[in-house]
Amino acid sequence: MNVADSEVVGGILQREGYTFTKELGEADVILVNTCAIRDNAEVRIYGRLGLFGRYKKERPGVVVGLLGCMAERLRVQLVEEERVVDLVVGPDEYRKLPALIDQAYQGEKGIAVRLSRVENYEDIVPLRLEGVSAWLSVMRGCDKFCTFCVVPFTRGRERSRSLKSIIDEAHMLVDQGFKEVTLLGQNVNSYRDGDLDFAGLMRSVAGVDRNLRVRFTTSHPQDMSDRLIETVASTTNICKYVHLPVQSGSNRILELMNRSYTIEHYLALAEKIRKQMPGVGLSTDFISGFPTETPEDHGATLALARNVQFDGAYTFKYSARENTKAWQMTDDVSDEEKGRRVNEIATLQHEISLELNQKMVGATVRVLIDGESKKSAEEWSARTDANKVAVFPKSGEAVGDYVDVVITRANSATLFGSRVEAKAALEAAA
Ligand code: 5AD
Ligand code: SF4
Repeated sequence: MNVADSEVVGGILQREGYTFTKELGEADVILVNTCAIRDNAEVRIYGRLGLFGRYKKERPGVVVGLLGCMAERLRVQLVEEERVVDLVVGPDEYRKLPALIDQAYQGEKGIAVRLSRVENYEDIVPLRLEGVSAWLSVMRGCDKFCTFCVVPFTRGRERSRSLKSIIDEAHMLVDQGFKEVTLLGQNVNSYRDGDLDFAGLMRSVAGVDRNLRVRFTTSHPQDMSDRLIETVASTTNICKYVHLPVQSGSNRILELMNRSYTIEHYLALAEKIRKQMPGVGLSTDFISGFPTETPEDHGATLALARNVQFDGAYTFKYSARENTKAWQMTDDVSDEEKGRRVNEIATLQHEISLELNQKMVGATVRVLIDGESKKSAEEWSARTDANKVAVFPKSGEAVGDYVDVVITRANSATLFGSRVEAKAALEAAA
C-alpha cells in the first residue's frame, strides 16, 4: 500500500518538474513514507530519521519530509520534537507537497494531516519504476474498525475510485509493458462505484487485456461475496490466489476484535474458495497475544491453521495502538509469550507450506518471470498463478515472459524446476 502511495507522491512531484533519485546523497528533498500499523514499524522510522539528520548536517539545505500513517498519528509532535523533520504530511494531503516543500526552502516547517472523505488521487499518474508487476490502488481507507487496528484513524473512511479511472490506468499499464496488476485497497472487496461492486470491477479490469494477470489484496472475509468467488474462479487471467486474513482461530477473540465473522463462517468460505478454484493459493494473517488471549485461544488458532492448510501466513505480535478500542483493554499477554506463540504458529505454517509445496513436485505450472533469482545470476525467479515463487535455470527467456516449468523439488518458500520443452513448438517446426 505504501509503495503505491509513494508512487502517487512521485507522480505529484514529477508534474512539478521534480525528478526521482534512489541516491540519498543526490537528493534535495528526502521523503520517507511511514507505516503505523505496529509499534516496531514506527521504531524503524526513528532510526531512519537519525540517518537523515546526519545527511542534513553535511548538506543543510536538504528538506526532509515524513509522510503517511505515522505523520497522521503523531502530527505536531513530530515537527516539534524531531528537529530533522521539515514536513509532516498525512495520506490524504499529498497534493500539498509541492507548496509545502517550497515553504520548507524558505525555512518554514509545514504540516498537513487532514483526512478526507473523497480524496482518491484518481487523476494522478503514479511514478512507477520499471517492472512487470504494478500496484493499482482502487480504494482508500477502511470502515471496519477492527478493535486492534489503527488504519481507520490514520487513513480515514472508505472511498473508491471510479471504474473509468481504473480502467484507463490499466490500459496505460498494458501500453507501458506491465504484465501483472494488483488491485489494492485496505479492504479491497468492499469497493463500490454506484451499482458496480468489486466482482464487477475485477471482471472489467481482466477484460482490458487477457495477457494481463490480475491480482487483488487485501480482502475481508465479510465482503468475500459469492459473486466475487465466481468471478475469480471463472476468469482465466484473474490469479487464483486469495489473501484472506483470519487473525485468530478463537470465536471469543474474533468477537473482541470486532471481526464480524465466526470461525465456522471462515471455514465455510475457505472451503467454497478451494472447491471453486482447485489449486488456489490461500494465505492469511494472524495476530498473537491479543488482550485476554489464553493458551486455549492460541490452541484454537493452531487448530485452524492445521484445518485450513494455508499456503502461507503472516503472524504478528499484537501491538497496542492508541485510539483503537483495544487500546482500552489491558495488554495482558507478555511480550515473551507473544513471541512464543508467534514462533509456534510460524513453525507449524512452515511444515504445512513445505508439505503443500512438495505435493507440487512433478506438476507443470505456468509462471511469469519477474526477475533474476536472488541467489544466482544463472536462474530466473518467477511466480505461479497461485503466487508461489518458482526458480529455474535461464535459457534465453526475458523478464515478463510466461513460461511452463516442471517442478522438480521444493522447500517451504520456493518451488524449483526447469523449463518444459515447448513440445508443440518443436512439433510445429518439424
Ligand atoms: N498489532 C498486530 N498486528 C496488527 N495488524 C493490524 N493491526 C495490528 C496490531 N495492532 C495486522 C493484521 C492485519 C495486518 C496487515 O497487520 O493481521 O491483517
Ligand atoms: Fe484494519 Fe483491515 Fe480491520 Fe480495516 S479491515 S480495521 S484495515 S484490520
